[in-house]
Amino acid sequence: METKKFSNRLIENTPEFCDWVEQVRNLNMAYTLETGKTRKFKIDVFGCQMNERDSETIAGMLTEMGFEEVSGTEPADIIVFVTCCVRENAEERIYGHIGALTAECAEHGSFIVACGCMMQQPHVVEKIRNSYHNVKIVFGTHNIHTFPELLHRYLTTRKKVFSVWEKENRIIEDLPVKRAEKHKAWVNIIFGCNNFCSYCIVPHVRGRERSRSMDDILAEIKALAEDGCKEVTLLGQNVNSYGNDLGEKDLFARLLYAIEDIDGIKRVRFMTSHPKDLSDSLIDAMKNCSKVCNHLHLPLQSGSTRILEKMNRKYTKEHYLSLVEKIRKAVPDIALTTDIIVGFPGETEEDFGDTLDVVRKVRFDAAFMFIYSPRKGTPAAKLEQDIPSDIISRRFKELVDLQTAISTELAKKTEGQILEVLVDGPSKQNPGVLSGRTRTNRLVNFRAEWIEKGDFAEVEIIRAGAFWLEGRGVRKIG
Ligand code: SAH
Ligand code: SF4
Ligand code: F3S
Repeated sequence: METKKFSNRLIENTPEFCDWVEQVRNLNMAYTLETGKTRKFKIDVFGCQMNERDSETIAGMLTEMGFEEVSGTEPADIIVFVTCCVRENAEERIYGHIGALTAECAEHGSFIVACGCMMQQPHVVEKIRNSYHNVKIVFGTHNIHTFPELLHRYLTTRKKVFSVWEKENRIIEDLPVKRAEKHKAWVNIIFGCNNFCSYCIVPHVRGRERSRSMDDILAEIKALAEDGCKEVTLLGQNVNSYGNDLGEKDLFARLLYAIEDIDGIKRVRFMTSHPKDLSDSLIDAMKNCSKVCNHLHLPLQSGSTRILEKMNRKYTKEHYLSLVEKIRKAVPDIALTTDIIVGFPGETEEDFGDTLDVVRKVRFDAAFMFIYSPRKGTPAAKLEQDIPSDIISRRFKELVDLQTAISTELAKKTEGQILEVLVDGPSKQNPGVLSGRTRTNRLVNFRAEWIEKGDFAEVEIIRAGAFWLEGRGVRKIG
């Protein structure tokens, strides 16, 4: 068996996974011998960074099984949808995309694999089974590692294979991974969520908190650094809980200190920090660790203490503002970003006014703003939506206008400054220019012939808008 690409630990702990990979690889070899072709796959990812990282594992497994990745409009034999159900419009978009592939599937004989958060909901799986006949394989967030087995079953029987595990699994380390980028990487540190914010479906589809061991995380980051990675983003629904389930306190801060010692890594980011758990030791670590970027994403959700209580967020407006003060004292040039929900059931004009008040006081660099969307199975979905939709739209617009004005004003302050940018490559919107991110996570577009993806540049900011900065490359700095 040719499993030298697998770690000994994976072979010992999950031999069946390695066997199924090998068996699908054999099927693919036979297919290639017979047809002279290689089976192709492409992946469509929706939702958050957890899904981005999961899709790298799925790409890794498919590559290991002998499939070749294609992108864009190139036809593929397998089209994988990594789905999100955090809001209704996310789900609708995914149904739309899957439906739109009917002709392509018929023309190329391709089939669809649907996985990710949306598939953890039985009513979704039923709808897919009954109405989307090109979806041949379904699995959930807890059984990604069974994909090779499910794929083998489908390829050998051509019968639909739907398998979703209800409960979270133990963490399986060392699954294959095909990273999207070399110079920056997502690194999971904790899976699942125990917070049960009343509007949120995530704990229902991602299970309870499970932390990876610090040794595993550090070993992964060291290996990434040796491979040329310069920036890591540590991922968890609430990174501040990292280690709680291992019986450790403040382990997240200790992890940040430990990453300081890894040569090659120049920037550390993390997502997401729940305000109720933003500890003093974490703030100290952000202050003391030179690699930790001066950016904190601290979801507010609402500025009204009354609504925060209904959301089960476990902090007040005053506590949130005091945290902002504390973090700004420790890291004066920190960029703060946030998430805000408008139109939670029962939100009055006064409650909404509190949200505007916090936005004015904090002056976030950027905010992701959402209209509340009831999610089946969450406590908030049982509350009557008593706010007329035109009022919600008006509030949403008012918030977006306010935040855009603030983001623009803050961005303008960078005009004339020289900032460190990690180059991500040609801009997606305008491939003639390069794009990258500052340490504060602002997007910068600039021109320079003497620099490449994965390098650091000093860039002088010439023009600044709410969502991106325009600059002039000054020099390469590493
Ligand atoms: N764990 C992260 C992210 C969760 S999902 C956190 O706690 O911040 C990302 C964002 O989606 C949330 O912060 C919230 O603002 C938004 N969101 C979640 N459920 C929602 C819902 N039912 N309706 C509208 N927005 C929602
Ligand atoms: Fe959802 Fe709250 Fe958990 Fe974030 S912390 S994933 S908003 S339940
Ligand atoms: Fe969506 Fe799942 Fe992330 S519901 S936001 S992809 S954890």
